[in-house]
Amino acid sequence: MLPAFRVPKIILDTDPGGDDIFALFWLQSLVKQRFAELIAVTTVGGNVSTEKTFSSASRILSLGGLPDVEVGRGVAIAQSPDDASHIHGSDGMGNLSSQLPDPIHNYETARFSDDILIDRLNAIPGEITVIAIAPLTNLAAAEKKHPGILRKAKEIIIMGGALNCPGNITPHAEFNLWFDPEAAEIVLNSRCDLVMTSLDITRQLIFTREMAQSIAQTNPQSKLAQFLIKLCEFMISTALTYRETDGASGFLVHDAATLGYLFYPETILWKRAKVQIETRGEWTRGQTLIDDRNLAKQPANAWIATQVDATRFFTNFIEDLKILNKGSEKI
Ligand code: BDR
Ligand code: CA
Repeated sequence: MLPAFRVPKIILDTDPGGDDIFALFWLQSLVKQRFAELIAVTTVGGNVSTEKTFSSASRILSLGGLPDVEVGRGVAIAQSPDDASHIHGSDGMGNLSSQLPDPIHNYETARFSDDILIDRLNAIPGEITVIAIAPLTNLAAAEKKHPGILRKAKEIIIMGGALNCPGNITPHAEFNLWFDPEAAEIVLNSRCDLVMTSLDITRQLIFTREMAQSIAQTNPQSKLAQFLIKLCEFMISTALTYRETDGASGFLVHDAATLGYLFYPETILWKRAKVQIETRGEWTRGQTLIDDRNLAKQPANAWIATQVDATRFFTNFIEDLKILNKGSEKI
């Protein structure tokens, strides 16, 4: 007899962001198929401000059909560096927010993301998987307020870092960990079994216009399909402008790699390593460094992704998005 599949309970920590939005749609499809339970979406500043990432998450949950999921507002960072609105649009959603209904969650009255993390992780220790696809500000704030809280997660899966490859925001640093390196340091020191999907594999995840069209085909008149096609076009245009894909016509769905690992683990290869972050370097702030030489002397803190089977990854991603679109509301 096959072992029973245990439906993971998930908190998604996110800063939408075009690729965050695709990841959140994928997760909503998995929830609707009863492969996952979405406990909360904790938003944070990063790609755009905390107000905007909160509103986007709310809108995307409504569009994907899960409007009742709690959305947390992001913890502020003392000195916010430049955002990534040049890639994701001034609203973080390809400048398409005005074409969607207003957010139904209220930013002013929402709980802060770190409080949600503390509350939920304390309520069911060892049961929640935290998927962090944004700067690690919320997770670090939770750990500072309540030391040891991150060890109460079943697992923490992070999109971040550039381990054996150049960065995407500086020559050495990847955006999420560069944005708040002090927060990243706290999270990297919080446990010894972090799971990290870095640019080393996410640079191979080029989502194309044809993929978006094949998803849309399952229900071409849906609001979701129309939105996905437009967001994809916007993301391809900025990816080409900023040479994110070496000229290939597509954009990188970095954040979706975390879900690839959790739901289709056969698509990614791993190795153990000690991952550290540079917080002081004049030219290297936010750089992630790995030590995998002698793990007996320098114990590892993470599993790092080394290879991805992009074909299999996209087969699963696209099939699940087709299922979400098929069941979604028409215009
Ligand atoms: C990461 O940076 C953000 O812009 C993306 O949403 C992703 O989380 C990739 O470096
Ligand atoms: Ca992100």
